Amino acid sequence: NGYFTFDPGFMATASCESAITYIDGAAGVLLHRGYPIDELARDADYLEVCHMLLHGEAPTAEEYEEFKNTITRHTMVHEQINMFFHGFRNDAHPMAMLCGTVGAMSSFYHSDLDVSVAEERVRSAHRLIAKMPTLVAMCYKYNVGQPFVYPRNDLSYAANFLNMMFSVPAEEYAVSPAVERAMDRIFTLHADHEQNASTSTVRLAGSSGANPYACIAAGVASLWGPAHGGANEACLNMLEEIGSVDRIPEFIEKAKDKNDPFRLMGFGHRVYKNHDPRATVMRESCHEVLDELKIEDPLLDVAMELERIALNDAYFKEKKLFPNVDFYSGIILKAIGIPTNMFTCIFALSRTVGWISHWHEMMSDPKQKIGRPRQLYTGENQRKFTPIKK
Ligand code: CMC
Repeated sequence: NGYFTFDPGFMATASCESAITYIDGAAGVLLHRGYPIDELARDADYLEVCHMLLHGEAPTAEEYEEFKNTITRHTMVHEQINMFFHGFRNDAHPMAMLCGTVGAMSSFYHSDLDVSVAEERVRSAHRLIAKMPTLVAMCYKYNVGQPFVYPRNDLSYAANFLNMMFSVPAEEYAVSPAVERAMDRIFTLHADHEQNASTSTVRLAGSSGANPYACIAAGVASLWGPAHGGANEACLNMLEEIGSVDRIPEFIEKAKDKNDPFRLMGFGHRVYKNHDPRATVMRESCHEVLDELKIEDPLLDVAMELERIALNDAYFKEKKLFPNVDFYSGIILKAIGIPTNMFTCIFALSRTVGWISHWHEMMSDPKQKIGRPRQLYTGENQRKFTPIKK
């Protein structure tokens, strides 16, 4: 009864109308609320970008101060969430803990759960943007067996996150301006990317009227997969496998060999076929951080040499394969001292504003319907059931 368009992977299906983010993959364009990503990454900070994604406009100076103040004052998590963490094994993957604790927020913030009320939706959005860095840092501290560090109101969004990650009771972490700026840019460059798998997951979960914390937990789960948020982690693992500069040509040949499944991780993109506009800024940031921190890490030498060789290689040129955002973000995160298994959590932290902005946009639409795709049935025709006893 009825014919449906068969579109596995939704390659040709627009699932919604949205005024938040525009991508032109062929031209390498990414706009948030009409503003080009490279301009935002250079001249705005992450909280300005959060304001425009969530509220539709870049904030005035006054609006910015008010927004920053609101976010800053929501950064603490309920004290009982500390105890919730203690139910996890110490070696739990940080994404496992993040998925669980974000979902658990719906059991703490009952005043934001009426999804039909715009004010409550915005309050939950503010709470999520504010508390994600706290939860992500707690995942790390729990892993390494150090005490949780409370948020500080005198620090910027990025500096506060770094402080919660790296300060210990014996010694406060000194955040360098270059590292703070690089962290802020990583947040900005991952803030939203249209209807990707995790954003579509958040929309689908939310379309049934589920609460925002449960929906964002669904987004975290979807992001966790290696085909989505896991690419920066995979890229660093690849660099470790290559190990030294003299082995790069061998891996370049492997990547070109059609009988070998190996691919250069952090190279190529499904949507961007000319360049990834996020990667250009990330590359700049990467060099800035490495220079500033005077990092001497053989893995970073491997990354820089790999980039140089691949960009000059005929195969990569012909197939339009260039480093994507994840190639450089992994190098920066490593240089800052963030362990590889935390990379996807940082992506989740950054993308929370995108997820919740899409959810809020969808819930504000009076035409909003539950998401309910159909299928092409490939099973048995109707047949007679024979009870076991016969
Ligand atoms: N290394 C070597 N060859 C490659 C690579 C690579 N990284 N990427 C694509 N190719 C080749 C591929 O073998 C194919 O060759 P041929 O024409 O001879 O069959 C050609 O280039 C086109 O590749 P494709 O698989 O048809 O392209 P796609 O658009 O389906 O895949 C991609 C895009 C990102 C999945 C792919 O480039 C890839 O696997 N890259 C490595 C993983 C990675 O870095 N992912 C992060 C993406 S950025 C994060 C985000 O925005 O979500």
